[in-house]
Amino acid sequence: MCGIIGYIGPREATPLLIEGLRRMEYRGYDSAGVALWDGEAIEVRRAAGKIAKLEAAIAADPVDGMVGIGHTRWATHGAPNERNAHPHLSADGSVAVVHNGIIENASVLRGALQDLGYVFRSDTDTEVIAHLVQELFDGSLEEAVIHALRKIEGTYGIAVISSRDPGKIVAARKGSPLLIGVGNGENFLASDASAILAHTRQVVYLDDGDVAVIERDSYRVIDLNAMPLPRDVDRIDWDLAEIERGGYAHFMLKEIFEQPQSVENTMRGRLMLEDGTAKLGGLNLSHEDLLRIDNIIITACGTSWHSALIGELLIEELARIPVEVEYASEFRYRNPIVTERTLCIVMSQSGETADTLAAMREAKRRGARTLGLVNVVGSTIAREDDGGVYLHAGPEIGVASTKAFTSQVVALALFTLKLARKRDLSVVRGREIAQALHALPAQIQEVLDRAPAVEAIAERFKDATNFLYLGRGFNFPAALEGALKLKEISYIHAEGYPAAEMKHGPIALIDEHMPVVFIAPHDAVFDKIVSNIQEVKARSGTTIVITSRDEPALRGLIDHEIRIPETLDMLMPILASVPLQLLAYYIAVKRGAHVDQPRNLAKSVTVE
Ligand code: F6R
Repeated sequence: MCGIIGYIGPREATPLLIEGLRRMEYRGYDSAGVALWDGEAIEVRRAAGKIAKLEAAIAADPVDGMVGIGHTRWATHGAPNERNAHPHLSADGSVAVVHNGIIENASVLRGALQDLGYVFRSDTDTEVIAHLVQELFDGSLEEAVIHALRKIEGTYGIAVISSRDPGKIVAARKGSPLLIGVGNGENFLASDASAILAHTRQVVYLDDGDVAVIERDSYRVIDLNAMPLPRDVDRIDWDLAEIERGGYAHFMLKEIFEQPQSVENTMRGRLMLEDGTAKLGGLNLSHEDLLRIDNIIITACGTSWHSALIGELLIEELARIPVEVEYASEFRYRNPIVTERTLCIVMSQSGETADTLAAMREAKRRGARTLGLVNVVGSTIAREDDGGVYLHAGPEIGVASTKAFTSQVVALALFTLKLARKRDLSVVRGREIAQALHALPAQIQEVLDRAPAVEAIAERFKDATNFLYLGRGFNFPAALEGALKLKEISYIHAEGYPAAEMKHGPIALIDEHMPVVFIAPHDAVFDKIVSNIQEVKARSGTTIVITSRDEPALRGLIDHEIRIPETLDMLMPILASVPLQLLAYYIAVKRGAHVDQPRNLAKSVTVE
């Protein structure tokens, strides 16, 4: 989704802004731009399309200065063209603004500004901010921004510079992440830590309602009444290498191959093999709290929602607590049954997904305890939840989530283990699960070692137009996730179903042109899924079967086989999802698709 970068200091800002924008490319965008104070006026360069286009625009008409802001835009209001790209200038050119989020009362403000004679040059909601700040300016940029924000309804992360108060960047946050990068004699602003990590590890995360005044040698955080706010400096503890491709053709491939380590990192220091339980430092739930839970709601979107479905099965199986999994976007607009004995688990890789954040706030408002399972350290969900379990999967740059998914399931398994051991689960069973979790990294590596076989299958099916993914029990969510991976990066239509549900409708689609992926390891429902495979073969469908053994029952039913190691049924979706990620990846690459930045998608969806 949109990215913001800002720089103020002794260096030429343009290359730093471009570098920061490049680091945020993975978030998804369709235009980009920069605004710089060149000592006399504010100069803006913008371009539709990729950052290379912006660089070409700058090369054709160079611009530089030591104070600047930049933006990558993911269109919401108005088409993704140069006119609508950020930064937006005020009518007299004295104010430049970049903005993430949505101004809900933009049309009212636009009308009022037009009545005052302001002429709008874009279709965006952001342009109203630029004109408002110009209109309200009375000597201090931060005061003008605060006055403007008081008139604005909606969400924003903004950065503003002005030629009438040029030695500063004013930033503000409500619902859209921003952080200050604290340098030595220079300071940065960014919506994503990866944009500034090459220059500083010291960051100040802004909270909703914060306004930051960033100057070359100092920064201040104030509230909307201009009162100072204390804010801690945090240190980013991951490396630049982690957000670079390191020899892999795409981030997605790198992240798929990182899973032995990322899963290991999720468990590090947490898995108690002897006691058959897990130690989770950030839970903030006492023994009594864990016993008091009557029901659990897990809320999430997309891939995180799929991991939540596995969480439901895990918790109900082992801890015997009723669980409901809710799409965050639906949860917040209905009247869910939440009591003070409800635990709301919030799953989010980014920790910034607008719907998930809003669902968490709604659950809190209704009295639930909230527990965030989040990957991005310092993200909004992680800071607002009552307790949390960081995934520690490392930065996930590819838009299609892979390693975060497997770490989410592992984190859910750790939490379930802890919860279940506090309740009814025996130490013997707890140990068995802990051992199986412990074995996962090496087993994932075994699956990855078979990547060439998956690539060969991808070659065979790269021109397919439809796919079905079928699984049962713990592997039904894995089927949904496999289908989502394929459709989002290869643009092939794919559906996931519980395998037995096929005969209630989707079976009508099956003919010799329909590849059907079955997740059929040797588990409790193996015999059942064999019947479903037979149903597909009887209708000339082509089967790609993920299995864990040489099963006589499968002979003659498999057109293409992918073998995975055996584990407990409940952990099987972790191993099964790895070849599904690889299959989607190789098919997308063979179709020439933009794997890391699929069309229309954003890495973190910070608008509703
Ligand atoms: C799919 C994907 C999305 C995200 C969803 C939620 O590969 O990445 O479906 O899972 O947008 O994002 P987070 O987990 O950041 O809340």
